[in-house]
Amino acid sequence: MLKNIKFFKSVYKLEQMPDGEIPKFVFIGRSNVGKSSLINALSGQKNLAKTSSTPGKTQSINYFMVDNIYYIVDMPGYGYAKISKEQKLYWKKMIELFFENSKKIKMNYVLVDSRYNIMESDLLMIEYLINLYMPTTIVLTKIDKIATNEISKRKAYIESCFEDQTLIPKIIPTSSNLKKGIKLIIDQINLLNSESC
Ligand code: GTP
Ligand code: MG
Repeated sequence: MLKNIKFFKSVYKLEQMPDGEIPKFVFIGRSNVGKSSLINALSGQKNLAKTSSTPGKTQSINYFMVDNIYYIVDMPGYGYAKISKEQKLYWKKMIELFFENSKKIKMNYVLVDSRYNIMESDLLMIEYLINLYMPTTIVLTKIDKIATNEISKRKAYIESCFEDQTLIPKIIPTSSNLKKGIKLIIDQINLLNSESC
């Protein structure tokens, strides 16, 4: 569990992003995939990050400070059909500005809903991050909703989407509801933090 985690700030514009040198672990994915729920599961708290069954809940970049050392960043979801075109373009731009301007991103966790095969928008996000030489891990969410053998099928499908096998990110199956896979992510965060900057 990430014990000493506190909400730090919500950001709506580039100028509001906290400056640079603090390491960051970023959680990004389609709207409703379970980003905020995963952050709550990592922290062992129910309502630290606001969750909702209505997609499009997180319409800001939310920073949480852990141990006064690093940030967990809850990104707004992409791919949500019901927000206006202007809003969509605005957040697309903000997400790009975030990645172009944030230093010390130690890991990007791209969340993918295990109930469906990975979508084009997820693959585009992963490709975008890989092109920026960003460290990327895929987190399969909501595995409590699918049969165990489906998990390996989803993984195999994801792997088949990469022409260059060396670029396939690590894939971690999780359930925030059942607290599955949570420890793997925490161990990875702790490991990356213990390595030199
Ligand atoms: P946005 O902020 O809209 O981008 O969504 P989000 O990715 O933060 O999703 P959020 O954590 O709010 O969860 C969306 C819905 O999925 C909620 O109804 C959650 O209860 C549900 N959910 C999240 N994680 C799990 C899980 O592990 N299992 C199940 N069954 N449901 C989950
Ligand atoms: Mg959210």
